[in-house]
Amino acid sequence: MVNYKDLGLVNTKEMFAKAIKGGYAIPAFNFNNMEQLQAIIQAAAETKSPVILQVSSGARKYANQTLLRYMAEGAVEYAKELGWEHPQIVLHLDHGNSFELCKSCVDFGFSSVMIDGSHLPYEENVALTKQVVEYAHKYDVTVEGELGVLAGVEDEVSSDHHTYTNPEEVIDFATRTGCDSLAISIGTSHGAYKFTPEQCTVDPKTGRLVPPPLAFEVLDAVMEKLPGFPIVLHGSSSVPQEEVETINKYGGALKAAIGIPEEELRKAAKSAVCKINIDSDSRLAMTAAIRKVFAESPAEFDPRKYLGPARENMKKLYMHKIINVLGSDGKAE
Ligand code: G3H
Ligand code: 13P
Ligand code: ZN
Repeated sequence: MVNYKDLGLVNTKEMFAKAIKGGYAIPAFNFNNMEQLQAIIQAAAETKSPVILQVSSGARKYANQTLLRYMAEGAVEYAKELGWEHPQIVLHLDHGNSFELCKSCVDFGFSSVMIDGSHLPYEENVALTKQVVEYAHKYDVTVEGELGVLAGVEDEVSSDHHTYTNPEEVIDFATRTGCDSLAISIGTSHGAYKFTPEQCTVDPKTGRLVPPPLAFEVLDAVMEKLPGFPIVLHGSSSVPQEEVETINKYGGALKAAIGIPEEELRKAAKSAVCKINIDSDSRLAMTAAIRKVFAESPAEFDPRKYLGPARENMKKLYMHKIINVLGSDGKAE
């Protein structure tokens, strides 16, 4: 048994309370490799932003849970080395799909876990989430639950269409499970293809596709039922069109990749939404930079020569999200 406090990590409790009061949101960035982690920590340390490092089931399979945990422990020391005296770093399990997986993460030094029972019948979701909360809280580990279904493919959980969160269920769910935060479905979805072109309108100035707005009325209704309760938004990548264009310019084939407009995320961050999940944007930033090096310097074969620019591009993206979208900069001095 390893307690996250011994690793210098923190849970989400205080972080979320401050974010709701302050009208900003904490970035939750997924990581699968060293370059992503370096870029996240450099961006968080430079901006003094609290940050959530997310590990998905796919990341556990790809990089190994043990290695990722030691990397997160190393990240705390790295942050201090970069001059961030009191780093506020959470190590979080993203989309946990069983009690056993959540327990293993709690036992292994994670400071926060998500139990995603959103695809289960309501009563089963309540029972599973409650079971995880009862275990995690013994060790002061915070728990994120989910109500409502997001469209898109995750590693273990997938759905073709979304179902908005039913605001009538949230009080019962939060009270009976004791979860610390709640992921809701208001029209975001996972991946780089969040909307079809048919669902969008065309911006006459830029010619770019503008997706339909998120269901803020659902968020408002949830906040009315659970005032001050921490809300989480998954599937919140904006799919920067510059990155998509770079990828396609250098041999990629991403067609009509459309994300959540940043104005909508800025608006959400000012509400009880205190955790915003971003993964796909980082994948795009990494891929764009690597493709550019491969196309412009085909003789290059030192991985540092393409992973280095990829890291820089991801860092730029993370800093932009922190400063210009979520507003979490300077909140962890
Ligand atoms: O929610 C999904 C995250 O983007 C993680 O994706 O399961 O491919 O690692 P992944
Ligand atoms: P994106 O695919 O929009 O980056 O969402 C990531 C996410 O929700 C991770 O849980
Ligand atoms: Zn997610």
